[in-house]
Amino acid sequence: MRSSSRVALVGTVLASVLCLVHGNTLGGSEDGVKYDFPNDFMFGVSTAAFQIEGGWNADGKGESMWDTYLHEHPEYTPDHANGDVAADSYHKYKEDIEMIKELNVKYYRFSLSWPRILPYGTDNYINKPGATYYRKLIEELRMANITPVVTLFHWDLPTPLMDLGGWSNRKMVDYFVDYARVAFDLYGDVVKIWTTINEPHQHCYNGYGSDYFVPAIVSNGVGEYLCAHYILLAHAEAYRLYEREYKPHQHGRVGITLDAFWGEPRNSSNANDIEAAERYNQFHLGLYAHPIYSKKGDYPDIVRMRIDSISAYQNFTRSRLPSFTEDEIHKLKGSSDFFGLNHYTTFLMSSSLMEDAWRVPSMDHDTGVKLEQNSYWPKPGAEWFTVYPPGFRKLFNWIKNEYGNDIPIIVTENGMCDFGGRKDYDRVQYYNQYLHQMWLAINKDKCNIEGYFAWTLMDDFEWKDGYTVKFGLYEVDFDSPERTRRKKLSAINYSNIAKTKQIDFNFIKPHLLKYNMNAIF
Ligand code: NOJ
Repeated sequence: MRSSSRVALVGTVLASVLCLVHGNTLGGSEDGVKYDFPNDFMFGVSTAAFQIEGGWNADGKGESMWDTYLHEHPEYTPDHANGDVAADSYHKYKEDIEMIKELNVKYYRFSLSWPRILPYGTDNYINKPGATYYRKLIEELRMANITPVVTLFHWDLPTPLMDLGGWSNRKMVDYFVDYARVAFDLYGDVVKIWTTINEPHQHCYNGYGSDYFVPAIVSNGVGEYLCAHYILLAHAEAYRLYEREYKPHQHGRVGITLDAFWGEPRNSSNANDIEAAERYNQFHLGLYAHPIYSKKGDYPDIVRMRIDSISAYQNFTRSRLPSFTEDEIHKLKGSSDFFGLNHYTTFLMSSSLMEDAWRVPSMDHDTGVKLEQNSYWPKPGAEWFTVYPPGFRKLFNWIKNEYGNDIPIIVTENGMCDFGGRKDYDRVQYYNQYLHQMWLAINKDKCNIEGYFAWTLMDDFEWKDGYTVKFGLYEVDFDSPERTRRKKLSAINYSNIAKTKQIDFNFIKPHLLKYNMNAIF
């Protein structure tokens, strides 16, 4: 994942004093407050099919575009990785469930591999063993008293559909709805929480606007908006299908998972930077959230206006951002029973007309915002990732201010990457700090947050970074054929939190922590 290929590193002093964390930030509850969550708060853990399952051609599974691309382009990741075996969850799902039980969480979010169920992408042929795999997984989860939360599409599009242009082809809306129907038919009796599509922004921006993610279609400024547009329509149609034909008897909920970095003004007293940060938030999150969650519907005005006028200036006959019909606006509005939110990191934002690495046309150029990292913020793993817990709270508040507080937010992913090791003090601290910010958002700001899913259960295939960075609560030994799993310190901490519904800042002693957050904020 990345925000922009032009992330510059700055050591701005200004940024180090950007924001103070309320309450206790490091450890020890010196302030005497109990940081606890309601008894029915959903604590869970998330994974995605391509990142953990392996079994890439097992039992009649078709190829996903990630299989195909990685086989043809081993140089895509630094470690020449692919998802052929990954963490081998296709064979080891029972062990996974033991780990989930150990974590004391009551919810498990995983995704279905579309080509495992429909090898050709289309619903004319269902691969029985593939369908049975998820049935068994779900049954085992239920026996363990763990509620499945199922994502329909976490980026592994069947290759035959990619060959037709993937999400740049409007026909994908029909194919997605057909697939959703198959999934609702197969599992809707026992799956009551669905998310349609995972992180459309990352998928479209990085996969259709550049070659950072597969399918690596470098159609900057055009493809990324086609992808966004058709994904939104596909989501709405799948939601309406469920609402019409399944909800009356299956009684489940359907939502979408959107991702958002927090856009922090580079200088919080500079009006241009404040405006740039807002613009970024609208392009990155609002483009997807506004059509679904706002009262008005459709794309945010600022996004519509900028892309329309820049397209005209660039001599395009029509805007590069497609338009919705009235009927489509209506279908999209309110098409989600919850706000699935993935959040990891924050960037500093300032206004810019052009940066060296921007292509023209492109979403970067349309947005006109330069992203930088604050070099004072810890950077424990991947290039794009710095730790700034207050961004989480600010993001919740931004969502509440934009779309109101009626629709509950479920944090479908949040977690930290590093380069490995089971004594992962930094990850313990990351979870404590980010959960603390979420606690503040719930208790001080009255944000409507219903659940939290840690990313991720175990080390896995991390897209562009292959297996070189780690997000897991459990370590996976990718050199052993058994893909041996071992618990990390952060798993014990998270398991205590899920059990007690309370953050324990004393879980590790402050002197063991590498980053002193109090000094940083
Ligand atoms: C969000 C994506 O949904 C997930 O697949 C990815 O591994 C994490 N971000 C971390 O980059």
